[in-house]
Amino acid sequence: MEDYTNPYKKTAAFWDQAFYRVPEFDPEKPLGVLELEKALQWLGEENPRVLDFGCGHGKVLLRSNNHGVREGVGVDISKEAVAKGKNIAESFDLNNRFEFIQGGIPELKKFKDGYFQGIIIFNVLDNLLPDHGELLIEETKRLLSSGGKFLLKLNPFMSPQEISENLPNSVPLENNLFLEQSGLYFWNISSEKLKDLIAPELQIEAEKEIEQGENAPKNRLYLIKKMDERI
Ligand SMILES: C[S@@+](CC[C@H](N)C(=O)[O-])C[C@H]1O[C@@H](n2cnc3c(N)ncnc32)[C@H](O)[C@@H]1O
Repeated sequence: MEDYTNPYKKTAAFWDQAFYRVPEFDPEKPLGVLELEKALQWLGEENPRVLDFGCGHGKVLLRSNNHGVREGVGVDISKEAVAKGKNIAESFDLNNRFEFIQGGIPELKKFKDGYFQGIIIFNVLDNLLPDHGELLIEETKRLLSSGGKFLLKLNPFMSPQEISENLPNSVPLENNLFLEQSGLYFWNISSEKLKDLIAPELQIEAEKEIEQGENAPKNRLYLIKKMDERI
């Protein structure tokens, strides 16, 4: 893919700064949001090998170890996030089963079809350029084994009024795509658009609203399955 990282230079710098500052965490400790713990329990039921795209420093991926995930690969564009994730995995003796790769969608090419039984994509699909977002969903369909599970977390869909209130200085780039002042993109994905993107191979089993603190916007969490081709 030509020039994947170029449009994300500001994104990577933003997250490098953020992850440089965040303290390391203990993956033995629950995430603090019961619905997320339950979702990881669902994901880990059959001891899958899991990909976490946009994994940050691996808070969710490394936590999934306690819910049965046997092997994990985290991919993230931020070198600081990946370095921190590697350190934490090492500190907790998880580095033989959990690896971190710096990069993005091009890095997924090295994995063969159906390699993962589980995929996590939390708060990154809607920060990609729509063409890349669509490509990431295509890669998810390819990489997930038949019957595999996909956990997707998205920001809330915003009305034009909510966009002007919540992202006052953002610049509209194209239909439903905004460039925030921070340099991050916001692709405003409706639930209908999401269903179109994932169909027909991927189907939503459940949708939950996630509260992440008093002042944080509620997120949408989707529990998605790849249709079992044998049925
Ligand atoms: C909001 S954070 C979420 C981190 C993690 N998924 C979590 O829920 O704790 C978004 C993450 O996506 C990564 N990211 C953003 N754009 C990316 C891209 N184009 N390719 C790969 N990773 C990206 C960022 O570096 C950051 O770590």
